[in-house]
Amino acid sequence: MFDTIEVLKTIAFSLSESVLEIVYLLASILFIMGLKKLSAPDTARAGNLWAAFGMGLAIVATIFLHQMDGKDIGNKGLIFLSIGLGTFAGWSIATKVKMTAMPQLVSLFNGMGGAAAALISLLEFPHLAEGSPDGTADLMSGHVLAILLGLVIGSVSFAGSMVAYGKLDGKINEWRSPALRYINMGFLLAIFGTIGWLMSLGSVPPANAMFVVYGIFAASLLYGVFFVMPIGGADMPVVISLLNSFTGMAAAMGGFLYDNQAMLTGGILVGSAGTILTILMCNAMNRSLTNVIIGAFGGTTGESQEVEGTMKETNVSDAAIQLFYAQKVVIVPGYGMAVGNAQHACRELEKMLAKNGVDVSYAIHPVAGRMPGHMNVLLAEADVPYEKMHEMDEANPDMPNVDVVMVIGANDVVNPAAEDDKNSPIYGMPIIQAHNAKNIIVLKRGKGKGYAAIENALFFNDKTKMLFGDAKDSLQKLVSEVKGL
Ligand code: TAP
Repeated sequence: MFDTIEVLKTIAFSLSESVLEIVYLLASILFIMGLKKLSAPDTARAGNLWAAFGMGLAIVATIFLHQMDGKDIGNKGLIFLSIGLGTFAGWSIATKVKMTAMPQLVSLFNGMGGAAAALISLLEFPHLAEGSPDGTADLMSGHVLAILLGLVIGSVSFAGSMVAYGKLDGKINEWRSPALRYINMGFLLAIFGTIGWLMSLGSVPPANAMFVVYGIFAASLLYGVFFVMPIGGADMPVVISLLNSFTGMAAAMGGFLYDNQAMLTGGILVGSAGTILTILMCNAMNRSLTNVIIGAFGGTTGESQEVEGTMKETNVSDAAIQLFYAQKVVIVPGYGMAVGNAQHACRELEKMLAKNGVDVSYAIHPVAGRMPGHMNVLLAEADVPYEKMHEMDEANPDMPNVDVVMVIGANDVVNPAAEDDKNSPIYGMPIIQAHNAKNIIVLKRGKGKGYAAIENALFFNDKTKMLFGDAKDSLQKLVSEVKGL
């Protein structure tokens, strides 16, 4: 009788483990298909839902099917309470956040992922000796390496993301010093040297090594702060994407630790997608990844050149005539278009000009706005067809043939200082070469600077006319004016 119960228990255990493995496989497939769908704006929303469904499935299956030593995982009330609280907090913040504050939110959520990975490592290290008769654990193992790497990468990601959040929200100012390059390198050497030393200790009771693990944790948090502190201005998008890939890698370490395929696949997908995005952004910003990692990054410290000349103002009726009689018009959207919520008015003007035979298209800079793909999302929301949106490299060669470039709330991404002022903080960043067009109309509220807080010579160019006012308001007035022509 006793034997039969034991056999039945074994069958139930192996069955639920097999079902769990299948669910993890299914979740991994959903993550991959979701990610694939994220690559095109019209399928991105569905991709997000597919991946979220996969994650939900993996969580529910783990809670109900995962067993420890043939027993239920327990603490279900606490688990559901935590999930409920987390879901409520995440949902209410995400539904209230303004589109323009999205990068801060991404940083905040990313930091939470890093913190979760670091906490897993801190909680799992003391358990290393479980089942060992003498209470010691061999620290020279892949398992320990996964725990320590998860701790370091998760902590750097958490601390770095919190600083990035503070900077993007204007709560923290950047702090640059040549010494930071050496401080950061010192931290990296100390962290990885300590990990090597700790693992070389061989078999020890994990509790005796906990103070070293806390030391690695503290050093990683400090490195995360010092790593992001000197980065500022136009370089922030790269660091946000890099921290995102760190969180993915830290989660993947958790997947190794628990032998959990869904966690491993999810972590690897986030880590590799974040790394690819980081490399693409580095190329777009003309920065090297090595400089980002050792923290010597953040542009030059010199003063930008003085900009000479005067701004020439235009009015709605002159701007409308210029656009109406042009053959080729290129619209360059920027952050101001997003804050001004001007995309719909812009689309209306574009359609009206096109109806009158004007060839209108959009030139999109990879870091225009405040998050990757910001302008694409904004224009897609206003139903601008994808074939009308041209990337910077595609748009620039044709710029000399463009009759009018209309810059809407963009500043840094069209600043010629990036090409011709070696002391400028944005020197080296590729820009949309609006200055090469035959005529330029700039829509902005006043003489405000862009994200990098520097003057823009394009606004003083002889070919440029400034149409001052809120972007949406100016575009709506242009629509009425063009209607009357
Ligand atoms: P910015 O350089 O930030 O310039 C935006 C301009 O919009 C400002 O000069 C402002 O001038 C104008 N503006 C603001 N509100 C407006 C409104 N309601 N109507 C009309 N104009 C308005 O924008 P950008 O050219 O898109 O460049 C983006 C910058 O952000 C880059 O430096 C980039 O590196 C950085 N960044 C990007 C990201 C990503 S991933 N995209 C993330 C973080 C930072 P007025 O005040 O005079 O109106």
